[in-house]
Amino acid sequence: MKRWRKNIISVLKTFKAKNPYDPLICLPVYNSEKVFMGYLRPVTWDCAATLPGSAAQMAAWRNGCPSFSPNSFTATEESTVNWLETEILAREDRILFLVLSADRTRVGHLGFSAPDEREKSLEVDAVLRGETGRFPGLMSGALNTMVRWGLSGLKLKKITLRVLSDNAHAIAFYERNCFFRTAEIPLYRVAGQDREKWVPVKQFDSQKPGKLYFRMQLDIEAWNRANREQSDAARQTERQGNL
Ligand SMILES: CC(C)(COP(=O)(O)OP(=O)(O)OC[C@H]1O[C@@H](n2cnc3c(N)ncnc32)[C@H](O)[C@@H]1OP(=O)(O)O)[C@@H](O)C(=O)NCCC(=O)NCCS
Repeated sequence: MKRWRKNIISVLKTFKAKNPYDPLICLPVYNSEKVFMGYLRPVTWDCAATLPGSAAQMAAWRNGCPSFSPNSFTATEESTVNWLETEILAREDRILFLVLSADRTRVGHLGFSAPDEREKSLEVDAVLRGETGRFPGLMSGALNTMVRWGLSGLKLKKITLRVLSDNAHAIAFYERNCFFRTAEIPLYRVAGQDREKWVPVKQFDSQKPGKLYFRMQLDIEAWNRANREQSDAARQTERQGNL
């Protein structure tokens, strides 16, 4: 395995804390005025014990949010436990964080996946706000915290994501947070027994795409500018407060 990928996988593994005595590493979330908003709490191997009820809660969030994924199915506590175990914890190339408010309310989740050695990139995925109507701006804060960690901690050169083309709210959210559109990925329907699935590969020659993903990428310069300006503004406020 190449060195860069090996390092990313090793860091993700540390955050997932397979040994229950490993330290729990959370990332603090601050808003642009440097006010503490909450934490990114990694989903760890011991989550059944240390985050009781979280699988049932995530299943309810998922069912209340059809725009989360092109694939439609009804999530249950059991299917979510299985998803966390096989698709998050056992996958060395993936991490999921719960977004917690300052008072420890579970608000949503988001993660990183798909390390690309050549691009030195990760993809933002599983972005979902489950708790609506409270803590405005917390998902932006959470995304910015993960981006900051990605750029400075993981030394990423590129951060991407995919979003359905008809998900106007999420696209506006990403654009506000310095992502821009780079490509379109057509999706083709796969007929399933109990669920609808969409994949980027045609199932038969004449098949027309039924949905579309936009690929988006972080404008790192714009993000640095925005965050430098925010830090400058926060320092200015601090100085004024100290006079
Ligand atoms: C995409 C998603 C996570 C965005 O969440 P969100 O709640 O809009 O994002 P934030 O927590 O940053 O809150 C933004 C809102 O808070 C307001 N706000 C207040 N203070 C703010 C601050 N300091 N920073 C940012 N926003 C702030 C914004 O104006 C915005 O209000 P609006 O929605 O009326 O425009 C959410 O809509 C979601 O879960 N969607 C369903 C799942 C989904 O589609 N996921 C994406 C898959 S690719």
